[in-house]
Amino acid sequence: MDKKWWHNSVVYQVYPRSFCDTNGDGIGDIPGIISKLDYLQNLGIEIIWLSPVYQSPMDDNGYDISDYQAIAPEFGTMEDMDKLIAEARKRNIQIVMDLVVNHTSDEHPWFVEARKSKDNIYRDFYIWRKPKEDGSEPSQLGSAFGGSAWQYDEITGEYYFHLFSKKQPDLNWENKKVRKAVYKMMNWWLDKGIGGFRMDVIELIGKVIDEGIMSNGPKLHDYLKEMHQETLASRDVLTVGETWGVTPEIAKKYSNPEEKELSMVFQFEHITLCWDAKHGKWKPRPFDFVSLKKIFNKWQTELEGKGWNSLFWNNHDLPRAVSKYGNTQQYRVESAKMLATALHMMQGTPYIYQGEEIGMTNVRFESINQYQDIETLNFYKEKIAEGFTHEEMMNALWENSRDNARTPMHWDATENGGFSKGKPWLGMNPNYDSINVKAAIEDKNSIFYHYKKLIELRKSMPVITYGDFKLLLKEHPQIFAYMRTYEDERILVATNFSKDKAKFMLNEAVEVEDFRVLLSNYDKAYALVSELELEPYEAVVFGI
Ligand code: GLC
Ligand code: CA
Repeated sequence: MDKKWWHNSVVYQVYPRSFCDTNGDGIGDIPGIISKLDYLQNLGIEIIWLSPVYQSPMDDNGYDISDYQAIAPEFGTMEDMDKLIAEARKRNIQIVMDLVVNHTSDEHPWFVEARKSKDNIYRDFYIWRKPKEDGSEPSQLGSAFGGSAWQYDEITGEYYFHLFSKKQPDLNWENKKVRKAVYKMMNWWLDKGIGGFRMDVIELIGKVIDEGIMSNGPKLHDYLKEMHQETLASRDVLTVGETWGVTPEIAKKYSNPEEKELSMVFQFEHITLCWDAKHGKWKPRPFDFVSLKKIFNKWQTELEGKGWNSLFWNNHDLPRAVSKYGNTQQYRVESAKMLATALHMMQGTPYIYQGEEIGMTNVRFESINQYQDIETLNFYKEKIAEGFTHEEMMNALWENSRDNARTPMHWDATENGGFSKGKPWLGMNPNYDSINVKAAIEDKNSIFYHYKKLIELRKSMPVITYGDFKLLLKEHPQIFAYMRTYEDERILVATNFSKDKAKFMLNEAVEVEDFRVLLSNYDKAYALVSELELEPYEAVVFGI
């Protein structure tokens, strides 16, 4: 596979609302991001995935866009944005923008026009259907945020389609004018010098509503090829598709360079593994470790040489990694480092979600009124109506609400964690007094420095980027271990996902005479590689 600059770079996701507030309105802003670029450069990341900063009524915190070529005033101005791109570049950091084009806001001028009359020239930019004879919804399709996917619009007496909130009407990708308008907007941003796009729920744009097909519709890949041709082909940028319903076969279509679509997929099989078949994230399950390993193994081996993975534990929609897969009681630091090691030593481009690098944890708000996320609030009502108790729902929120990831970033131990001098838009996680960036920087054994080391290793050892992957001890109930090999380089990664000691015995035929410890989260001496006793949440990387 041809080498690409984003193969051995690490992405850092910034959720702007919660990153750093410079004017005291309680909302993170672009000048705040600029002020932290030195910090990010020190960490070693080379790409920022910036969640939406576009003009938006903020029904879904910016994933409902009313002008793709304007910045939301609470985040700053277009001058701020240009400055961010330029200042980041000075530090060898590319800005990857969030491209939200499955839907717009209902306040986008296209929709404002479209709803005016059935013969408006923008009508067909969206998806409209007549009511059934009795006036009810055209079909049973549901929205990802609860309730029906159809919203009745009185002006013309028809329903429009929205897979997310009713303030997020879906664009009609079958309309060539829609596609052209999107490509034009993408080129406008690319010409500004951004480093690429993260494509929000991109698998949905090929939907065929009347047949009930949402993800992976028949024309999806035609659209992506067209998009590539019109916008990306002549540029060296990173594109990543948010793809929930992808299989390795489909992932190759997206991400094999020969297909000329995207750079990589962002797939969630290891995440949805912990969801209930019927109630999804609202009935969380403890994670099944052996299945988790199988999933990683499948993606690592099947995309090898034929596609490209994203590696992530969490993002702005998911719980904090250390709370979900680690141990925040007794081993927060060890388990956060272990999780980072297990992930970053695989093949693919790693993503760090803001705060992950200091081991931020889930939050437990006492009252439902403290939650802000539209999905959380809608489903709280919906599930209670279905018969869930308040306690069951609060437990589900503590585990899986999107607000777990969205509480503001902890910069130091001063009021509001140094995030804002005003009242933060969403409550702080009270543990900012001990878990914060300042403390992490001052402690040479912190999680932060472990991440920094992982990034340095990636930069210096091609095996981490290009090595093939071999899972070891497949059925072991505590240990995730694997070997990576590339040319004459080889590494062995051994991680213990449990709070108990674990015996690691290498029975495969690997001759290990010489080895060096590249990284470990315990200060201990290693005598042998083939037989180890791993400490709780230990992670060690050997060069062998
Ligand atoms: C994606 C985003 C999520 C958003 C949704 C609708 O899943 O990550 O935050 O709510 O799309 O745009
Ligand atoms: Ca602000």
